[in-house]
Amino acid sequence: MKQVEKTISYWEYSDDNELSSEDLNLLQKAESAIDGAYAPYSAYHVGAAVLLENGEIISGNNQENVAYPSGLCAERVALFYASSKFPEVPVKTIAITAKAKDFIIDKPVTPCGSCRQVMAESENRFHNKLRLVMKGETGKIFIIEGVNNILPLMFHADELKKK
Ligand code: THU
Repeated sequence: MKQVEKTISYWEYSDDNELSSEDLNLLQKAESAIDGAYAPYSAYHVGAAVLLENGEIISGNNQENVAYPSGLCAERVALFYASSKFPEVPVKTIAITAKAKDFIIDKPVTPCGSCRQVMAESENRFHNKLRLVMKGETGKIFIIEGVNNILPLMFHADELKKK
């Protein structure tokens, strides 16, 4: 028996000025998307924007429901819409941010497990590493390159194949 350690890595930026113009633009699109969120139950309004390899940007926001599990996170709304509109085009980067009604979110918004799994599918489908740009309402920005850095030991499509 032995203990195995796996490391993840991500970039930490202290503010928007440090970002590339492409990432800043995408983050601003995610910020604008917050306005369309339907979040009467959590009062936590999330915006996401997806940059595709063809340069298109698709944004989305969280859509809640009185039957809570029927709602959907901003990231999946944006990723599924992008995939339905441009089924053949790989996803390059997703930016995520949020605003809460009652407090300031001062840490980057990191996606839930289900959204991470959907991001893993996008990487696998297009053989294209996904970048994530994450911010709260204020504070630092995290950039992650590759879903393996947010979903270590993920279930992989190869596992379905007979060896
Ligand atoms: N939410 C997202 O849309 N994305 C995240 O990364 C975190 C959580 C939504 C789901 C729900 O509508 C609300 O935020 C509170 O969990």
